[in-house]
Amino acid sequence: MKTLKIAAVQTHPVFGRVEENLAAALDLLPPGCDLAVLPELFSTGYQFASRAEARDLAEDLVSDPAPGSVCAGLTEAAAATGITIVAGLAEKDGDRLFNSSVLIRPDGTRGLYRKVHLFLDEKSIFTPGNLGFPVFEACGTTVGMMVCFDWIFPESARSLALGGAEVLCHPSNLVLPWCQAAMVTRCQENMVAAVTANRVGTENRTGSELSFSGRSQVLSRMGERMAGLDEMETGVAMAEVEIIERDKLFTPRNDLWADRRPEAYRTEPTGG
Ligand code: ACM
Repeated sequence: MKTLKIAAVQTHPVFGRVEENLAAALDLLPPGCDLAVLPELFSTGYQFASRAEARDLAEDLVSDPAPGSVCAGLTEAAAATGITIVAGLAEKDGDRLFNSSVLIRPDGTRGLYRKVHLFLDEKSIFTPGNLGFPVFEACGTTVGMMVCFDWIFPESARSLALGGAEVLCHPSNLVLPWCQAAMVTRCQENMVAAVTANRVGTENRTGSELSFSGRSQVLSRMGERMAGLDEMETGVAMAEVEIIERDKLFTPRNDLWADRRPEAYRTEPTGG
């Protein structure tokens, strides 16, 4: 058993003001924490009016970070603070755009996740993620990433947990009211900790206003809300979270992995 100090950073991005949004997020990084999670698309804002606009604001996240890029700024911050940072960014890879999340360790090495389940108008901008649900060694444990609407598909958290993730990092721009409660169940059914970093504020760049719901939270592996923020404020929710590697003993006689019965489960809807 070990503990990790984990933080959800809740920001209020202004669309297109990349440098300001980055600076505001970095100002909130709490000294002494092991792992800090920033919201989805935290540096750009959410509501792209077109693919061209998203492309102009997106970054290459596969090559070494370009000088002056958001990825470079996050990498410098991780090195300076010793914090492993997870952040949602718009990614360009050739002609494709992905709604991605990067994990950046203090030594500058990175992990990448591309959002699998796109929400609403994201489908007109981004390509669905093509990397599956990878897990990464970071801060002495195994960490996975999922982005916002991935929450509604229990397979996202399940895939990460089956892959060995002990902490789910969940950059978000939530607009529906149900995710924060659902993540409690995602933690319990997988016995993993989770940190949902959501944003606040509104955007109306395409004629349909979106209000982002805040309420970022750090949940324990039993789904307890260890720290949280309200729906309007910017700030940090930080908690010391217990990690018990590969322990899935929910009751003395129920191991969540050993008791699974995959042969009994449907994986596709039946017709008629
Ligand atoms: C969402 O996936 N940004 C709701």
